[in-house]
Amino acid sequence: MSRSTSASSMVRRALSGVVFAALLVLAGCSGDEFTDAERATIASLSLDQLPPLPADPSNRVADDRLAAAFGATLFFEPRLSGHGDVSCSTCHQIDRQFQDDRPLGRGVGLTDRRTMPLAGVAWSPWQFWDGRKDSLWAQALGPLEDAREHGGNRTAYAHFITTSLKDRYERIFGPLPDLSGIPQNAGPLGNAEERAVWESISEAKRAEIDTVFANIGKSIAAFERSIRHEETRFDRFAKAIAAGETPQGDAALDESERLGLRLFIGRANCVTCHAGPRFSDEHFHNTGVPQPPELPEDSGRAAGIPKALADPFNCLSRHSDAKPEQCGELRFVAKDDHAMLRAFKTPSLRGAVSRPPYMHSGQIATIEDVIDHYAAAPRPPKGESELKPLTLSEPEKQALVAFLKMLDPRTSPVN
Ligand code: HEC
Ligand code: HEC
Repeated sequence: MSRSTSASSMVRRALSGVVFAALLVLAGCSGDEFTDAERATIASLSLDQLPPLPADPSNRVADDRLAAAFGATLFFEPRLSGHGDVSCSTCHQIDRQFQDDRPLGRGVGLTDRRTMPLAGVAWSPWQFWDGRKDSLWAQALGPLEDAREHGGNRTAYAHFITTSLKDRYERIFGPLPDLSGIPQNAGPLGNAEERAVWESISEAKRAEIDTVFANIGKSIAAFERSIRHEETRFDRFAKAIAAGETPQGDAALDESERLGLRLFIGRANCVTCHAGPRFSDEHFHNTGVPQPPELPEDSGRAAGIPKALADPFNCLSRHSDAKPEQCGELRFVAKDDHAMLRAFKTPSLRGAVSRPPYMHSGQIATIEDVIDHYAAAPRPPKGESELKPLTLSEPEKQALVAFLKMLDPRTSPVN
């Protein structure tokens, strides 16, 4: 082969490469412009990369069908409340992604935080914005006795199960305790009278009531494990990219969505916290979200850690079905971590665009305002924010919103 031929063939090859790349740009639909690292990140966000439902050794009925069906009944049951008018679904509404579109959850009274959506919660090791519960079943017991939410007490709930749902309960958990002669209302977290009555009940009977109460939580948790994320246009796109294919039809990105994705996984750094198929690292971060002046000061995760450790229904408690060595999350949680002051759980971004307002107390009204918050990276009211200011042009801000819309089948339908 002569020199000139090889030189001209090199030029030809180079040119055909340029032409090929230009054609791809014109076609505007290829994933080929992503680097290998970007492809790997994109693939890691796809819903089909979600690991299998994690086991919950602390709940022996976590995957029991009868318990899940019983839990569904309890989830929608308003008689499981102080005045018979609040159920979990008062705030976690099935047709609103299991939340309520309010800045602050409202049951018997107004709470201090925004109602969280429930899709995929079973993948989250810590529950609530501050992670003060280490399982779904322990979480469910909180609102039931919270004066502002269900406003009831465990003794009344044990009586209710005994009079109205005895057979279904006993088919799952065996015989209910004998509650004859036990007062209707009593509990360690109730009003002064309910607390005094609780103290007057024998320790053995209180333990039996606690067991019924824990089993209510375990059944509700079994139901909640079935609440899943829906596939989105983004997932179709990510699947094609992972398979080395060119995304087609509704899986293809328009220019703005593509720019938004690039920013999300690149310069805007969103993916450092909103990672994995749920777009959450399931961890806690201070992102400088303001403290609403009308609400009590909220320390976030810094206050949640000691609460989880002291919870009488945690993984290491007598009501847990786990062996202590199966409670790794709780046993190895950092106990004194300054970075946790005003840190809140990273929410999933799936479906987020259609459930304003945003943040742990609904502080930010619109998705555009959320992007402005990240661009500005304001000083936090307490602790240290992990955010750094971002320079984003108007089209770049709109692109981030366009990308977030892809994560929601309501704003970006899957054909
Ligand atoms: C008054 C409205 C209201 C009621 C009733 C209510 N919740 Fe909630 N839910 C909330 C709020 C507000 C939060 C966040 C609270 C916080 O972080 O302190 C929340 C958080 C949760 C979480 C945590 C999700 C996560 O990602 O960490 C779960 C799970 C949950 N609720 C399930 C339930 C169940 C089960 C019931 C019924 C036993 C229930 N809720 C009753 C408002 C409510
Ligand atoms: C340092 C971790 C971190 C980074 C980086 C980050 N987020 Fe967040 N994000 C969070 C946390 C934590 C919250 C909840 C904060 C709160 O309520 O106080 C949140 C809340 C949100 C919410 C509101 C969701 C809801 O249901 O309330 C949206 C939307 C959001 N982030 C999008 C983004 C985008 C877009 C980026 C990139 C520009 C980004 N986040 C970067 C951790 C982070």
